[in-house]
Amino acid sequence: MSEETLSNLSHEERRFPPPPELSAQANVTTDTYAEAAADPEAFWAKQAERLTWGTTPTQTLDWSNPPFAKWFADGELNAAVNCCDRHVEAGHGDRVAFHWEGEPGDTRTITYAELTDEVCRAANALTELGVRAGDRVAIYMPMIPEAAVAMLACARIGAPHTVVFGGFSADALASRIADCDCQVVITADGGYRKGKPSALKPAVDEALTRCPGVRNVLVVRRTEQETAMTEGRDLWWHEFVGRQSSEHEAQMFNAEHPLYIMYTSGSTGKPKGILHTTGGYLVGTSWTHWATFDLKPETDVFWTAADIGWVTGHSYLVYGPLTNGTTSVMYEGTPETPHQGRWWEIIEKYKISILYCAPTAIRTFMKWGAEIPAKFDLSSLRILGSVGEPINPEAYVWYRTHIGGDRTPVVDTWWQTETGMHMITPMPGVTAGKPGAAMTPVPGISVEVVNDEAQPVGNGEGGYLTITKPWPSMLRTLWGDDERFVETYWSRFPGMYFAGDGAKKDEDGDIWFLGRVDDVMNVSGHRMSTTEIESALVSHPKVAEAAVVGATDATTGQAIVAFVILRSEAGDGGPDVVQELRQHVAKEIGAIARPRQIMVVEELPKTRSGKIMRRLLRDIAENRELGDVTTLTDSTVMELIKDNMAGAK
Ligand code: WTA
Repeated sequence: MSEETLSNLSHEERRFPPPPELSAQANVTTDTYAEAAADPEAFWAKQAERLTWGTTPTQTLDWSNPPFAKWFADGELNAAVNCCDRHVEAGHGDRVAFHWEGEPGDTRTITYAELTDEVCRAANALTELGVRAGDRVAIYMPMIPEAAVAMLACARIGAPHTVVFGGFSADALASRIADCDCQVVITADGGYRKGKPSALKPAVDEALTRCPGVRNVLVVRRTEQETAMTEGRDLWWHEFVGRQSSEHEAQMFNAEHPLYIMYTSGSTGKPKGILHTTGGYLVGTSWTHWATFDLKPETDVFWTAADIGWVTGHSYLVYGPLTNGTTSVMYEGTPETPHQGRWWEIIEKYKISILYCAPTAIRTFMKWGAEIPAKFDLSSLRILGSVGEPINPEAYVWYRTHIGGDRTPVVDTWWQTETGMHMITPMPGVTAGKPGAAMTPVPGISVEVVNDEAQPVGNGEGGYLTITKPWPSMLRTLWGDDERFVETYWSRFPGMYFAGDGAKKDEDGDIWFLGRVDDVMNVSGHRMSTTEIESALVSHPKVAEAAVVGATDATTGQAIVAFVILRSEAGDGGPDVVQELRQHVAKEIGAIARPRQIMVVEELPKTRSGKIMRRLLRDIAENRELGDVTTLTDSTVMELIKDNMAGAK
């Protein structure tokens, strides 16, 4: 989002105060903010009591070796016990953990007792495969209950999981498996997408040709497609997990034991392995899930409409909701299958009270028209959440009006894979929401918007978002790369966590997000690195040079636009070169990285020092008037590119 749009936005006058009946019973009140501000560490120590510990921690934060934090370091616990067993022991075994809805319309209801049994069986299965505490396991799954079971089974035996989004390619999967040296992969034959079975196992087979360290592959049968199984390596989940005992005694692990690694795009080509550990992560996700969504576990039905392959799926589909004993809905497929009202049908069917999704989905629904949700009974909804990118005021108001019946608060939650939990968001019983603003830090969290000199900006000014105090669910490091961890997050402004987001404080001091300030794009709420896509493009034999920019897009927030220079021996590349290159990127990274447009150009605009001027390319991609081009080595380049664009449309 550009600076001008933002200054318009922050003049937004509409306010939506919390419904009085919600405030009267809200989990979070103004007192919560006051208590947390008075002593944040004591506040988090108190929230740690939400969990069941094998050894209760006596320490809260250990910041003796910044930026490497330890939280609750002398405590011991088991993440899976906190998500499953303890609810059964508390007498809630019959409560539904997941109402699962398959895309073709098949359903499964899984209670906490059933979930516990299944997690135990899977934990026994992994143990039989030789997986021990500390070993890494890759999970590459569609949105089926076994994906959550697999994560929890890993957690139960202390084996950090790395979930790779099912839309990623074999190459992307292979590089992640190799980076954290996984020994076992859990996958499925496939999943349903857009009315058709879509295979997953072939990508695993292809990836494993490059990952000799993987001993076994556990395969869930979902679609019943023809699936090649490698003798001695591949095992069917229903057979191998199915024959295990549902008795499993959980070991307690240190609070700082690694829970999972999640890869995310950074501003260089190589994805970063964000490491989360157990105790602090669970405290942070459990508390924020309860607080931000004003969760009443006895009565709410909660739906995070995000894939388990992203952090939102980890924190708010699995760990947060399950530690809180929530009843959640999990949906396998796409919103338009078999019709564009599928989401609203699901909400009506399960009487969902809290919906959490991304602005890109909301903008798609806006495009399809308000008459579609109007056909369904959405009166069970009481809170709506947004995540992944700034929500533009039009989308916010449409969401509140047409989905929330003009009653529900909208909580716009800002956070990152790195933060693990919500960091800046309205609280539904306290905050008068402003369309487009993420508002204020969560109780117990300290942030500052600073300028280039690390000085806090005043109200009405913009700068960089930083987090000024450690928080329980913060990333602990980047897998195998402490140096890059320090360099990426802690060196720009010493002593502060640099989030990579531009932000602005409005006249009231409330926070608005302006998008990334690095080379990371946000496409449909997914982080994509410009450099990673550029590397994919130049790995094609016909490409000499590539520059990728994120252009504003009405539906996806940003869209990937690439400018490429072909190698001279490739001639004009042939008639299908653009298609060929788009396909190539999809193969290298995944379909989500496929550029919306590729422009074949003769030259790229560069500064005298040889840096590609992405700002100009973005202007072209967005069809804006060109800015100052006097630092270009050859300003005619822009004309050439412009002409080319005209031809390409
Ligand atoms: C962006 C997703 C504005 C931001 C949970 C951040 C947002 C990146 C918001 C993290 C929001 C996420 N308002 N921007 N409510 N939520 N972002 O790691 O640029 O996939 O740095 O985590 O998404 O993306 P990630």
